[in-house]
Amino acid sequence: MNGLIVADVAIAGGGIIGLSLGLELRRRGLSVVVVERQKAMSSASWAAGGMLAVHDPQNPAELLPLSLRSWELYPAYLERIEELSGLKVPLRTRRAMQYVEPARGDGGRYGDAVTAAEIAEFAPGLDTGSHQFEWLDEGSLDPNDVREALPPAFLAAGGTLLEETEMLSVQSGANGVEVETTRQRISAGMFVNCRGAWSGETSGDAERGLERLPVAPVKGQMGNLRCEPERLRCVVRAPGIYLVPRGDGRVTIGATIEHVGFDETVQESQVRQMAEAALRLLPEAEAPAQMDMWAGLRPGTPDTLPILGRAEKDRCWHATGHYRDGILLAPVTAHVMTQAMLGETTDVGLEAFSAGRF
Ligand code: GLY
Repeated sequence: MNGLIVADVAIAGGGIIGLSLGLELRRRGLSVVVVERQKAMSSASWAAGGMLAVHDPQNPAELLPLSLRSWELYPAYLERIEELSGLKVPLRTRRAMQYVEPARGDGGRYGDAVTAAEIAEFAPGLDTGSHQFEWLDEGSLDPNDVREALPPAFLAAGGTLLEETEMLSVQSGANGVEVETTRQRISAGMFVNCRGAWSGETSGDAERGLERLPVAPVKGQMGNLRCEPERLRCVVRAPGIYLVPRGDGRVTIGATIEHVGFDETVQESQVRQMAEAALRLLPEAEAPAQMDMWAGLRPGTPDTLPILGRAEKDRCWHATGHYRDGILLAPVTAHVMTQAMLGETTDVGLEAFSAGRF
């Protein structure tokens, strides 16, 4: 071990949540060090679909205020990342077609019904059968773009990033927090656990001196179909399958929801099954023989809501458990966590997201 780093805030986890929070803390003038056990943005943040699914009917109702605020913050968030990194992170789509459960009927629909003319415009060839779809005001991005741009943006903002560095222990007291890592020791004013799927009981956090959190990995397998870009220009979400066009011929499809621990292996048969479901909707797409396939681990919580706010230990905080919405919720998490850590009123109340609810 060599050297001591002194910072206002130490963050464990260099995914989209940890780095976005680091960026916001830097904007507010705090010094920040992020400790990441692998390369930054190499886990769920990269594997994600990238849908900014504000109005997904599968989201718990309690998530909506956070989701809406995050969608409002997104333009400025991306602008800042682009300015600092010099790399563009474009929204690849700006609307989503959502399958409407028949039981919901017209009364349960949130957005306008998608018409045949609109299907011809945004997704010619889409086979909706007799099902109804609605328009949702949502964007999507390619998480690869964020993976390229966010770490350099954080560095350009003056943040310190320790990659391939394991966090060994966290000791907190009234005067500060001491974090031991496999590289350097950090003496910080505050500590935030942003370790995603690795912030739970099963990942040994309790042994590191962190509070036991009921966060568990939820595996998602995904793949890329090919399709002429103009044949699909919006996200399509139907039962058990979603399609996210990247605007360059790739259409990302996902995702499985598997409770199998820290297993990131890809089972081709499962991805091919999803591809069949996607091709029934969009027969003009193609599932290449050599198909890109990957898997990621979402940080799941018992109620599928994130854990945001104070930890039990002095000067320690949580920002984890974002389950299926880490990309969507990164800007608002950075914003409200910074507010909370600076003792300000948060834009969105965090009571529903406290670790104490479990
Ligand atoms: N965010 C989409 C998923 O978790 O599959």
